[in-house]
Amino acid sequence: MKVIAVVSAKGGVGKTTLAANLASVLASSGRRVIALDLDPQNALRLHFGVPLDSIDGLSRATLSGDPWQSVMFDGIDGVTVLPYGAVLEDDRRRFEAYVDQHPQWLAHALHNLRLDANDIVIVDTPPGSSTYVRTALTAANFVVNIVLADAASYAAIPQMERLIEAYAAPRPDFGGVGYVINQIDQSRQLTKDVLKVLRQMLGARVFPGVIHQDEGVGEALACDTTLIHYDPLSQAAADFRSCGAWLMAAIDAIAAPRSVA
Ligand SMILES: Nc1ncnc2c1ncn2[C@@H]1O[C@H](COP(=O)(O)OP(=O)(O)OP(=O)(O)O)[C@@H](O)[C@H]1O
Ligand SMILES: [Mg+2]
Repeated sequence: MKVIAVVSAKGGVGKTTLAANLASVLASSGRRVIALDLDPQNALRLHFGVPLDSIDGLSRATLSGDPWQSVMFDGIDGVTVLPYGAVLEDDRRRFEAYVDQHPQWLAHALHNLRLDANDIVIVDTPPGSSTYVRTALTAANFVVNIVLADAASYAAIPQMERLIEAYAAPRPDFGGVGYVINQIDQSRQLTKDVLKVLRQMLGARVFPGVIHQDEGVGEALACDTTLIHYDPLSQAAADFRSCGAWLMAAIDAIAAPRSVA
């Protein structure tokens, strides 16, 4: 099993979109993929056709002691979806307090699923620092950090680097961080300039391509699916496929098997 945490210091940059489309790409290459939502927005499932009125998910299952298998959905493109679930405010706070007190919670829960060595878990997270990001980083073998080609994303990079340094980097089975630059509109000069600066700053850690801005991304979500499924011939779908190949090479290069004491 390889665990990939999808993170960003800033909100609304495309974490959930990228997590969903990468899950589709990796599943279409024949790997078993679990798309796991650690964000109370509970939005990852919407890309996979999980019914809007479904309240089941890992937060409720954890609080009630139910097995995660009971809240796994067969999503489109062959992806297994583990939604966050819909919880009342009091339960959300109880769940967050529990996760905060048990930083290894996610690593242990995934270990208990007894997945195969080749299986992939993609974890979507809320923006910035939170108990969710800390537990995701504590379980991750690889981190995908999403940025936009703008000054705010650039300025926020050190914040996420510090979290990765604290919670993921010390483990021997942690394979590193890769950066993905999203929502690129090549017609804007400022975008091109910031892109250049980002590539200089991040060097080999950045996905060599970009994810272009594409109207189909929003349209796909409106149709409860991924762009890979909705418009496979679009520019952004091609970007997601190439990003998936880059990610697969990165995680398959991580040799150490995951072990949780
Ligand atoms: N490449 C893209 N082209 C066009 N629109 C995009 C692209 N990527 C993301 N979006 C749009 O940007 C918005 C934010 O995307 P998304 O919800 O994936 O971001 P997020 O980082 O998960 O947000 P949050 O921090 O709230 O969890 C959505 O409306 C999504 O459709
Ligand atoms: Mg999101």
